Amino acid sequence: MAPVDSGLFDRLERFYDALPRPWARVEEIGSLTLFVREGEGWPYYARPTLGSHTPSAADIMDARRLQRELGVPETFEWIHETAPDLLAIARSAGLDVLLAPLLVLEPAALVPDLPIRGATIRYLDPLAPSFAADMSASRAVNRLGFGAPAYRSSLEMAENTLVIDGAGPPERDAAEPLTDKEADKVRAMLESGDYLTAVAESPTEGILATATSQRVSTVAEIVGVATLPSARNRGYASQLTATLSGRLLASGVDLVLLSAGDDDVARLYTRVGFRRAGTACIAQPAALPL
Ligand SMILES: CC(C)(COP(=O)(O)OP(=O)(O)OC[C@H]1O[C@@H](n2cnc3c(N)ncnc32)[C@H](O)[C@@H]1OP(=O)(O)O)[C@@H](O)C(=O)NCCC(=O)NCCS
Repeated sequence: MAPVDSGLFDRLERFYDALPRPWARVEEIGSLTLFVREGEGWPYYARPTLGSHTPSAADIMDARRLQRELGVPETFEWIHETAPDLLAIARSAGLDVLLAPLLVLEPAALVPDLPIRGATIRYLDPLAPSFAADMSASRAVNRLGFGAPAYRSSLEMAENTLVIDGAGPPERDAAEPLTDKEADKVRAMLESGDYLTAVAESPTEGILATATSQRVSTVAEIVGVATLPSARNRGYASQLTATLSGRLLASGVDLVLLSAGDDDVARLYTRVGFRRAGTACIAQPAALPL
C-alpha cells in the first residue's frame, strides 16, 4: 500500500460527510453523526463527526440506542486511517467490523472502453418511460448479485442458505418491482445529476450487470457493482467500472473511489486502474452466539 496520504483522506472524509446530507436528516450523538434517510431508499449510517475526536464506546452505544428507536440499522462507517483507534473501540462496543479495501482511481492507468461479450453498456435515463422497469431490473441484479459473492469456497456456498447460486434472468424478472414511491425517489436522485446508474445489457437476456456512481463536487464513489451469477466472468463488472470512471473524469471529477468487499474483489478493480489507498471500516452488531 502507498504511504498514508492525509490530503486524500481529508477529501474522502468531507465527501462521506456531504454525500448523505441532501437526502437525510442529521443527529449528533457525542462524536458521531447519524444520517437518517428521509423517505424511500437504502438507510444511511453513523460516522465520526467531521473534525471531531474519536468516538467513544459510550457514543457508539448511545447511537445504537437511537438507531433502534428510529428503526434504522445499527451500522457505522469510517476510514481506518483517519480514526485508527476506533476499530478496537467499536469491537469493545459489540460491533463486528468489515475491513474493506478502499481504492482510488489512478486516472492515467484507467483502461480504455472495450467491447464486452454479448452486451452493451447503457446509462439509465430517469426521464425514459422504461425507467421504473429498468431500475427494478437493476435492483434485482444487484440483490441477486450480492446474494452470491464471487469468491467463496463451494463449502461456504453450500452452507449459506441465502446464496442464490446460478441465478439469472428468470430470477431477476421474478423479483419485486420498485413501488411508485421508490421509483420516484431514485428518479429524483438521478435527475439531480449526482447519481448515475450504468447497466450491461444483452439484446436477448436484458440487464445482466449494474453499477452506480454517487458524486459530490469533484469526488465520486462507485457503489453497487454486481453481475447476475449466470453472467459472471465475461468482463461486465470490470468494463462497467471503467466506463463509469471514464465518464466521471470527463465530467470534471478528479477523485474516483470505491470500497471492495474483500481483496479478491479489489483485484478486479486494480486491473482497470484503481489502487489500494486505505481501509474502509463497515460495522454492525456482532451476531449473537447461537
Ligand atoms: C464481483 C462481481 C461484481 C464481478 O462481476 P463479473 O462481471 O463477473 O466481473 P468480471 O467479469 O469483470 O471479472 C471477473 C473475473 O473474470 C475475469 N474476466 C474478465 N473478462 C473476462 C472474459 N471476457 N472472459 C473470462 N474472464 C474474464 C476477470 O479478470 C476477473 O478475474 P478474477 O476472478 O481473476 O479477478 C460479481 O462477482 C458480483 O456481483 N459479486 C457479488 C457482489 C460484489 O461483491 N460486488 C462488488 C462489491 S465491491
